[in-house]
Amino acid sequence: MSRRKHESRARRVRASGPKKGGRGAVVRVRTRGTPGAAYDVRIGSGVLARRVGGLIGPGGAALLVIDSGLPAGFIGPVVRACDGAKVRWGACVIDAREADKSLGTVERVCVEAASMRLERGGCIVALGGGVVGDVAGLAGAVYRRGVRVIQCPTSLLAMVDASVGGKTAANLTVSGQDGRPRLLKNMVGAFHQPAAVVCDVAALASLPDRELRCGLAECVKHALMGPLLGDRSMRAWLESRIERVLARDPATLVDLVKRNVAAKARVVRADERETSRRGAGRAALNLGHTFGHALEGLAGLSWRNAAGGMEVGPLKHGEAVGLGLLAAVRTSERLRLLPAGADGPLADLLGRIGLPTSVEGLPAGEVVAERMRDDKKVAGGALRLVLPVRGGRVRVVERPAAAAVRAAIESLRG
Ligand code: GLY
Repeated sequence: MSRRKHESRARRVRASGPKKGGRGAVVRVRTRGTPGAAYDVRIGSGVLARRVGGLIGPGGAALLVIDSGLPAGFIGPVVRACDGAKVRWGACVIDAREADKSLGTVERVCVEAASMRLERGGCIVALGGGVVGDVAGLAGAVYRRGVRVIQCPTSLLAMVDASVGGKTAANLTVSGQDGRPRLLKNMVGAFHQPAAVVCDVAALASLPDRELRCGLAECVKHALMGPLLGDRSMRAWLESRIERVLARDPATLVDLVKRNVAAKARVVRADERETSRRGAGRAALNLGHTFGHALEGLAGLSWRNAAGGMEVGPLKHGEAVGLGLLAAVRTSERLRLLPAGADGPLADLLGRIGLPTSVEGLPAGEVVAERMRDDKKVAGGALRLVLPVRGGRVRVVERPAAAAVRAAIESLRG
């Protein structure tokens, strides 16, 4: 997103007068893999400037890793809060494109940290969406063999998913069979739990509509397995509040983020490193993502956007995840893991959000299925899919019937 677009939207939001922020919330994330480790996710409007100095620690040191698309009006109060707490800070501004989510950018963050002589007791503060959180988190995991990271997500997608749970990552680019470069998402990374997470919903006021919809795709994912994630009413809650969320009502946004973070925290607590052999564990959160990752990098796609116009690809992550959820539900229908027609209410919900439910220009189902084999969850070359089953639960299906997978992909053709 360009800084200009972000700022002009921020101006429009200010001009129409932001609504009051509603009450804040705190969700505690407990991790078992790291003994005694727990951290708080603070959610509220204006909470970042209020909290950041105290979280870094008065008189401490921090490298602020800043998304180049964030408006200056959002960064200013954070910087002033650091100054007010006598924090010695440096800044590293990075672009938030998938191509920038590289080991080269991780190195740049580490070099900035070393240049300002950030010591083991210092911390890295990630201010931005998922790309910034992943790159800054990975730098925090390896710089001096690990420093504290404070995740301050500014997109809905990063608030409800990426910033919580300690996954950090960079992409790798390899040479494909056709000799062309191929981007492999999240191929390198580390588990490095943050010291704290601050979700300031004021950042969502200036988030482009398309990005807000993309974040909602991850909320839909959680809602589809609400019972598994310990929140049975999550789907009904989301279905009844979509309009308020899209209108960016601050109190509704606080509730949305709180519910989703609490759901994710339960999964992370039970299976921090995605090693569970009992049930799907943390891998459940990959629902829709194996299909989604295969769709995300495709060129030449087009689809009808929320305003009724045609959008030309590539798909953003959340858009691909929404389509991936549909494909996963339809695969389950074909494998009789879900009753026929289960996809209807999901397609309705995605449509109300303004996410695509079909795309034109899709390559043959077999081509997309082949791309799904690049997924990190492939074991011994065999596909493993997280698929929804009855009762809002999921199952990991090893080697799902190829015809069912192909048919689900074909069903997305517009
Ligand atoms: N985004 C999936 C996970 O955190 O495990």
